[in-house]
Amino acid sequence: MVSGRLLMSMALLILCGCQGTHSGNVLVFPGEFSHWLNMRVILEELVERNHSVTVLVCSASPSVNYTKPEGFSFKVYNVPFERHDLESLQEDFLNFWIYEAQNASMLQVGLKIREVLGSMTALHLNMCDAMFHNKELMDTLRQWEFDAVLSDPMMPCSDLMADALNVPFIISLRFTFGMTMERHCGQIPAPPSFVPAPPLTYTDQMSFFERVHNFVTYMIHSSFFSIHCLQTIDKYYSGIKGRPTTLCEILGKADIWLIRTYWDFEYPRPFLPNFKFVGGLHCKPAKLLSKAMEDFVQSSGDDGIVVFSLGSMIKNLTKERGNTIATALGQIPQKVLWRYSGEKPETLAPNTRVYEWIPQNDLLGHPKTKAFVTHGGTNGLYESIYHGVPMVGIPLFADQPDNIIHMKNKGAAVMVDFNKMTSKDLVDGLNSVINDPSYKASMMRLSRIHHDQPMKPLDTAVFWIEFVMRNKGAKHLRVEAHNLSWYQYHSLDVAAALLTIVALVIVVSIKTCIFCFRKCCKKTKSRQKTE
Ligand SMILES: *[C@@H]1O[C@H](CO)[C@@H](O)[C@H](O)[C@H]1NC(C)=O
Ligand SMILES: *[C@@H]1O[C@H](CO)[C@@H](O)[C@H](O)[C@H]1NC(C)=O
Ligand SMILES: *[C@@H]1O[C@H](CO)[C@@H](O)[C@H](O)[C@H]1NC(C)=O
Ligand SMILES: *[C@@H]1O[C@H](CO)[C@@H](O)[C@H](O)[C@H]1NC(C)=O
Ligand SMILES: *[C@@H]1O[C@H](CO)[C@@H](O)[C@H](O)[C@H]1NC(C)=O
Repeated sequence: MVSGRLLMSMALLILCGCQGTHSGNVLVFPGEFSHWLNMRVILEELVERNHSVTVLVCSASPSVNYTKPEGFSFKVYNVPFERHDLESLQEDFLNFWIYEAQNASMLQVGLKIREVLGSMTALHLNMCDAMFHNKELMDTLRQWEFDAVLSDPMMPCSDLMADALNVPFIISLRFTFGMTMERHCGQIPAPPSFVPAPPLTYTDQMSFFERVHNFVTYMIHSSFFSIHCLQTIDKYYSGIKGRPTTLCEILGKADIWLIRTYWDFEYPRPFLPNFKFVGGLHCKPAKLLSKAMEDFVQSSGDDGIVVFSLGSMIKNLTKERGNTIATALGQIPQKVLWRYSGEKPETLAPNTRVYEWIPQNDLLGHPKTKAFVTHGGTNGLYESIYHGVPMVGIPLFADQPDNIIHMKNKGAAVMVDFNKMTSKDLVDGLNSVINDPSYKASMMRLSRIHHDQPMKPLDTAVFWIEFVMRNKGAKHLRVEAHNLSWYQYHSLDVAAALLTIVALVIVVSIKTCIFCFRKCCKKTKSRQKTE
């Protein structure tokens, strides 16, 4: 009887052991928009693997629908502003960037960016206040004893929260401008001689003047980042920590950086052991289309279809731009599925259908798809690589120009300028990509690189999150560079010491020579005298 019970409890233990050892408790700070779509794929996988996942979201989040039942749970905290405030700031900036920035001077653009960045940071610090000064929330979070924090740095103060809760944390990001966060806070090396700064259009092969431009761009980004942090975020962080600190010091404690690209996209460059490249983790094989859509796709015959989307953030275009695009789409033999929620352009041709929403991944994976016209968001870009569909890029803002330029440089895309393009430019772009086989061949090469990995990107991402939970961090992957000052990092102190020694040796040698020479002179002189 006793042994029976013992056996049973042992069996239970083993069972629980198998299922429960790795089951952890994750706190998530979501990004917004496409960042959230990417991150929730990771969360769904974590839930699938029996981890408990809590998404900490502010009441004004524009894209996280926290009333929707999900496999993971939401913890909502109230902020003193509305969803609308965030959205209008966004819209205001987008409109400026897309339509007005072309005609504005550098100074005007700079001032606008400064203004928007200022308002954004103010809202962000508001959100931080709403977390850190909410005692009930802080107590609850402490009680829940998380094993790891997963955060998008778009979400402010997530690193500070991980620090306050004393929990290891993992960052998920695409990139920051000039790679400032990665370089300054993550310590990833970016030699300006062969790593182009993200918004520039260069490849890893740069001429002398391009290298000068690249070098100066890194310097400008670094200065801008340092000044911006110094004036706002560092002050706030120091206030919360109760001692002088910086964003980089806290963010630099991250155990793992999950970067949303891979070597199908990046130029080869140095990276650190705690940087993991997981681009395309959200990609999946295509599912069947709805009957109506499939019928439309099949009606294209041998010409095939073109998929068109400028992403979810561009709700409407100006009449003029809408008509230019619609006219262009009417001139190609393919059928076009266009995701667009604005007013229907007058010049819309019968081969084009407009949809409020399209199953983009399923369409890109359809054998009839010949090309993808895109704003170049990272999610869409990776779906395109995954399914091997060449692209026509119309980049608008953020990481999009950089994305499209990479694809163009790798021979898998044509880029057109949203504001300057005529219908002919778009038609020419589409015809090249569809009829010149080199684009398809380049994209298929990238696709093969993407699929031929030791582990699927989603598995890599989840593995490292689980690793951090199992091992209470991954500090063994963090380089000591975090502890060095800039002159130690570049070995300037060593160089100075060595130079001093060399200089001393030279000086001593010269002095000795002169001394000997004088002695000799004196001797010969005195000898001459005696002679
Ligand atoms: C998760 O838990 C369920 C039920 O307890 C179990 O059937 C399943 O195998 C577990 N999954 C993993 C990945 O451990
Ligand atoms: C959020 O989800 C709920 C429940 O599924 C749904 O009723 C609501 O329309 C959604 N809100 C938005 C803005 O999508
Ligand atoms: C920009 O300038 C050009 C030429 O000066 C003008 O035709 C165009 O309308 C301007 N665009 C905007 C959005 O002001
Ligand atoms: C988009 O639509 C909104 C509301 O209908 C309007 O206020 C705005 O000016 C439109 N934007 C463009 C670029 O047409
Ligand atoms: C940095 O220096 C501190 C104190 O000298 C030490 O405790 C720590 O282990 C060092 N390394 C890192 C990576 O922080």
